[in-house]
Amino acid sequence: MTSTAAAAHMEVMSEERNTSDVQKRDAQLEEVARRAGVRAERGRRFAELTSLRVGGAIDWLFVPETEEQAAAVVGALEETGIAWRVLGAGSNVLADDREHRYVVVSTREVKGKAEFDGERVSVSAGFSLPRLCVEAARQGLSGIEGLGGIPGTVGGALWMNAGAYGHEIGQVVETVRVAREGKIVEVPGGEVKWDYRHTSFKEGELLLGCTLRLKRDDPEKIKGRMEEAKQKRFATQPHGARSAGCFFKNPPGSGLSTGKMIDEMGMKGEKRGGAVVSPVHANFIVTEGEDARASDAYALAEEIRERFRREHGVELEYEVELWGADGEFKDEGGRTKDEGDTDEK
Ligand code: EPU
Repeated sequence: MTSTAAAAHMEVMSEERNTSDVQKRDAQLEEVARRAGVRAERGRRFAELTSLRVGGAIDWLFVPETEEQAAAVVGALEETGIAWRVLGAGSNVLADDREHRYVVVSTREVKGKAEFDGERVSVSAGFSLPRLCVEAARQGLSGIEGLGGIPGTVGGALWMNAGAYGHEIGQVVETVRVAREGKIVEVPGGEVKWDYRHTSFKEGELLLGCTLRLKRDDPEKIKGRMEEAKQKRFATQPHGARSAGCFFKNPPGSGLSTGKMIDEMGMKGEKRGGAVVSPVHANFIVTEGEDARASDAYALAEEIRERFRREHGVELEYEVELWGADGEFKDEGGRTKDEGDTDEK
């Protein structure tokens, strides 16, 4: 065989091996989903499942409907060694435009009901946070009314310690239910570190639900405070737009608002492809049009960070999660921002 023929032969062999590896993995995943009684979907895209409405194809999407199913399915995935990630409402995620070859476990259908018992409420990860806030107010339970307008799931709020208008979810958590080795484990809220938009939960930990301990108050007063927070949000943040909330954290401990500072840098309305710095709140990047790409939002975000660094000497930290198809967030050509820069030079 000539060396060219040998190389071609090797390539065919490796393709065959890859095809059979993929088939084996697919068969394994079908079996995992079947055993746990969990719906598995192919051919979905992050563009359908995230609020920014951008992002590439998802190899496998698992959609459990109960906490038990969710715990069992990730336990089984761990045994197979196949990588997985959890997606809630997708309201704080920017996933890159490439094909993501890991399993996405959606908690959207792990909803159940909010179970009220005195000052406590137990709720599953996929339950809508705004709905929980409304139900708590109706029950005369205070502590989360500031969070009423955050368009995510309870699981997502727990994961990142969501907060607004003086309330953070971590302040009222009694226990969190976490999936460990296929089982549901209760972790006391006091054992979790609840920082600013960050917790001590780790990648690979699936949050299944929680029990919150709230305080009795007059339902009308709670509703009033919730309405006030809603009005403030309505007046100062974009609504109905395709966004992921604030894109960057505020500089820690500074009392400064990143949004205000980006605004003062004159960047409202700045565009990269289908991504725009919101004219309403400058810490929101919104996407527009059918052709918007995750790489547009990322390019715009990196441009903001670059100018922020130059003008304020501060490194902005992402508040949204960046999901790369193979770990690192890249554009469709497979380049990171830095590699992209080198190409342009
Ligand atoms: N401001 C401007 N221009 C802007 C944006 C804000 O001048 O483009 C001014 C406002 O007028 C106000 C000040 O900056 O005087 C602070 O603005 P805001 O009340 O919106 O607060 P923020 O610090 O920008 C934080 C959270 C929001 C949360 C609000 C209300 C972060 C990164 N952001 O925003 O959370 O809703 O407080 O509590 O912590 C999110 O987590 O996704 C999010 C949006």
